[in-house]
Parts: sequence; C-alpha cells; structure tokens
Amino acid sequence: MIDIKHYLKQQQQQVHQALDEFMLSPSGDFADHISCMRYSLFVGGKRVRPILCLATGTCISPDITIEDRLLPVACALECIHTYSLIHDDLPAMDNDDLRRGHPTNHKKFGEAEAILAGDGLLTLAFDLLSEGQYAHGLPDSARLKIIQTIARAAGSLGMVGGQALDMEGEGKDLSFEQLQTIHRSKTGALITASVLSGAIGAGAAEEQLQAFRVFGDNIGLAFQIVDDLLDVTSTTEELGKTAGSDAVHRKATYPAFFGIEKTRELAQQAVERSLGALSSFSDRADPLRALARYIVDRTK
Ligand code: IPE
Ligand code: IPE
Ligand code: MG
Ligand code: MG
Ligand code: MG
Repeated sequence: MIDIKHYLKQQQQQVHQALDEFMLSPSGDFADHISCMRYSLFVGGKRVRPILCLATGTCISPDITIEDRLLPVACALECIHTYSLIHDDLPAMDNDDLRRGHPTNHKKFGEAEAILAGDGLLTLAFDLLSEGQYAHGLPDSARLKIIQTIARAAGSLGMVGGQALDMEGEGKDLSFEQLQTIHRSKTGALITASVLSGAIGAGAAEEQLQAFRVFGDNIGLAFQIVDDLLDVTSTTEELGKTAGSDAVHRKATYPAFFGIEKTRELAQQAVERSLGALSSFSDRADPLRALARYIVDRTK
C-alpha cells in the first residue's frame, strides 16, 4: 500500500525543485513580470498534474530516468495549470481574491500584470516542451506527440473551451450532458493530457494509451466534481480559496444539479471507473491507483 501523504510530499518536492530550475529567474529587464509569474507558481498548489505525468511514466517504464524524459513535461503542465488559475480568478471570470492560501495574482499585482503572467506561463510551457536540451532522452516523435496532446487539451476544444462554456453557463439551467461536458473539458482535458504525456514519454503502446485515456477522463471528471463539492462543504481556510464562490456566480455544478449525497456517489463512481481502466496493469500502477483515490478523498 502506498502512503499517499508521504508519496505526495516526496513528489511535490521533486516537482518544486524542477520548476525552480526551469522557471525564468527574476532579473534583468523583465524581472517584475517574471516575479509575477513566479508568485503564483510557487505560492502553493498540490501539483497533481505533474505528479500524474511522472507516475504514469514510471508505471510504463520504471527504468526511465525521469530527469531525462519527463520532468520538463511535468513542469510545463504545472505552468499551464497555474496560468489557467490566474485567468480563472480574474474579475471578468470568477472574480476571486484568494488562491493557494494567498491573494490572487491580480489582487497582488493588478489585472494587466496578471493577464500577462498567465500569457507568459502558457507560452513558457511550450518553450520547455520544445527545447531539445531539456528532456533530451525524449525521442523527437514522442516530444511532438506530447506537444500536440497538451496543446489540444489546453486549447479551445479542451480547457479554454470548457472555461468558455463555464462562463456562458452562469445562471442558466443546463442539462446533465452540458454540465458533464464543461467538467470534462475545463478540468478533465488537462488531467487526461498529464497522464497521456507521461505515458507517451515512457513509450507506451497504443492499447496502454487507450486505457490511460479512460483513466484520465474519469479522474479528471472526478477531480472537478470534488472541486464543486468542496466549494460547498469546506471552508475558505481549508481550501486556500474562497468557499461558496460557485453559488455566488450561479455556476453549473454537480452539487447544484444533484445535491451533496448524490454528487459524492457520482465522484466515487467515476473513480471506480478509472480504477477499472487500470485492471490489466501490475502493481507498478499502484501510485496511480492511490492518486485516483486521493482525488475523491482529498479535503482541499
Ligand atoms: C483547481 O485545481 C482548479 C481546477 C481545475 C479544479 P487544483 O485543485 O489542482 O489547484 P492547486 O494546483 O492545488 O492550487
Ligand atoms: C476552474 O474551475 C477550472 C480551470 C480550468 C481553472 P473552478 O473555477 O471551479 O476552479 P476554482 O474552484 O476556482 O479553483
Ligand atoms: Mg472557474
Ligand atoms: Mg474559479
Ligand atoms: Mg471550483
């Protein structure tokens, strides 16, 4: 059995160190802009997406050297995720003041700076992914496939598109299908891409990628269902972001649609489906199994 707390702590440290190495340093002409990006990146965060990428890579190929293949990819995923949070919190979007236990980027630096910090992080991610000196053990074909997988997941048919639907859906009575589409795209797509990019980087076969697609889609859906749940059941202090924000904006959420008890059940079912997708994998997939359970059991 994996001690998930210990595992997460260890992995978070590894990701933190790598981010520090790959992130631009705050000096020279662009020092203020870079400090603004670094603020949101290092102020906190569970690092779930990079950890999923690394765990999937070592599940496929325990002998690969993470540093040579996947750490820059993992860091790129965290840069994209952090950019999405900075923009998600802007006054024109969810208008939130607190993130990762600290003032949101625009509260600290102003809106223009926050928009640009997001733009900078998104662009830096693709610089990291395409720089041949980083992850030099990655074959070019795998690198290209990873770049395309992440670009599609982050873009208009994935996270950005999902965020657009989320904004359009405020205050409306959406169908269950529409609600599920929002959750799968705004959050599920990047989580699935995190799993897939780890698998591609480690040389997974097509049928393994198919299993990871199902795994990622279901933990991604579960992740946002639980995010919705915590918004109503937890506290601002515990979450490090303002609880109750979804009701204020009349967001389309699972608890608003189904109530709390049924929402818990649906999150659990999604995680069971994700575990089912891993049934043909050995105990090398145990960290992924533990991460899937953590996604529904987490308290922040
Ligand atoms: C929050 O993501 C936004 C969603 C996509 C639900 P996380 O819960 O992963 O936030 P951090 O990275 O730990 O701050
Ligand atoms: C955000 O969903 C999903 C993103 C792509 C950032 P939420 O708006 O529910 O995320 P939180 O609750 O603010 O972290
Ligand atoms: Mg939002
Ligand atoms: Mg939000
Ligand atoms: Mg939320």
